[in-house]
Amino acid sequence: MIKANYPIKKFSDIQTPFYYYDLDLLRKTLDDINSKTRNTNFHVHYAMKANVNSSVLAVIKDAGLGADCVSGGEVQAAIDAGISPSKVVFAGVGKADWEINLGLDNDIFCFNVESIPELEVINELAAAKGKTAKVALRINPNVSAHTHHYITTGLSENKFGINMSELDQVIDLFPTLPNVKLIGIHFHIGSQITDLTSFQGLCVRVNELQEYFISKNVVLEHINVGGGLGINYEHPNHFPIPDFEAYFKIFRDHLELQPNQTLHFELGRAVVAQCGSLISRVLYVKQGSSKKFAILDAGFTDLIRPALYQAYHHIENLSSELAVESYDVVGPICESSDTFAKGFVLNQTKRGDIIALRSAGAYGEIMASQYNLRKLPKAYTSDELLA
Ligand code: LLP
Repeated sequence: MIKANYPIKKFSDIQTPFYYYDLDLLRKTLDDINSKTRNTNFHVHYAMKANVNSSVLAVIKDAGLGADCVSGGEVQAAIDAGISPSKVVFAGVGKADWEINLGLDNDIFCFNVESIPELEVINELAAAKGKTAKVALRINPNVSAHTHHYITTGLSENKFGINMSELDQVIDLFPTLPNVKLIGIHFHIGSQITDLTSFQGLCVRVNELQEYFISKNVVLEHINVGGGLGINYEHPNHFPIPDFEAYFKIFRDHLELQPNQTLHFELGRAVVAQCGSLISRVLYVKQGSSKKFAILDAGFTDLIRPALYQAYHHIENLSSELAVESYDVVGPICESSDTFAKGFVLNQTKRGDIIALRSAGAYGEIMASQYNLRKLPKAYTSDELLA
């Protein structure tokens, strides 16, 4: 069984559970993204919602990525991390006035607008400041992402974006809204997408819409295709870096950009998931009536993805090389859904063993809660522990 190379001796001295970020892997991942987008008109904005750990953000900022934000808090965190507001996009179906004002005050690159009432409010707030807000229309493309229904966003039944049937009305509105400037169109069809043909479907839809905008004499400076590239949760040791080449190639081959148009991406999970692990200790091994439970000190308050989306995270016992056995790997929280995996094969496990829940760098630490009055997990990086 291949296991990740962790500073296990250092781990023994640290109170569990905690997140561990392999910043070398993060740097390699970012180098790969940059090498595939260098000298192109592709721009990647890191989706802040995946992880805003300050060490992780610092590495992402150093690699030169922009930021994709969905709240005023994220806009502020991106700016505080040193990401230029000129690379910040701001999406979300429910932007509050203070959040819009924060974006306006910082002259962010673009608001991704999700409804007509929002467009009107942005115009009004920009007018009050004597500014013109740059906006992109988030269009609901009605393209399936073939992923978990909780993280599918681009179907007409979802709450996101402006429906294609409303576009005539929106375009007619712009001349009456002097404090917003339409500079682009935005899409996001879902997350953890591993069937890349979904993105091909999106390209086809974007090409159709481009023709529509041309017929309306609307010049778009950019297209934003959102994020969603999935990662390999089953084999994080074999596939530590997602196949960015295949991903970008889909857009190079199938999306017809107009002259001088730029293409923007909002990748979250694909950037940070594989560099993070949740490190936990086994509290007890308990024999149930028909199976064994490995009871960890980490629970769904630390990593909610298995409970919320039935998500799979690869699990490794870093302390044991013994023969494998099957366990239900569970947390200490008083709910049956506090289960990381059922019937998971681990090296024989005992109290005190250190367990890694892999691929937890995205939507892990950031979604932690204090339910049951538990402490929020701390985080350490390879730069600190391997120094
Ligand atoms: N852009 C927009 C407009 C989004 O809504 C999202 C994610 C992204 C970009 C980044 O998507 P990514 O590249 O990370 O797939 N908590 C869930 C995922 C929710 C994703 C929400 N939107 C999970 O743990 O699977």
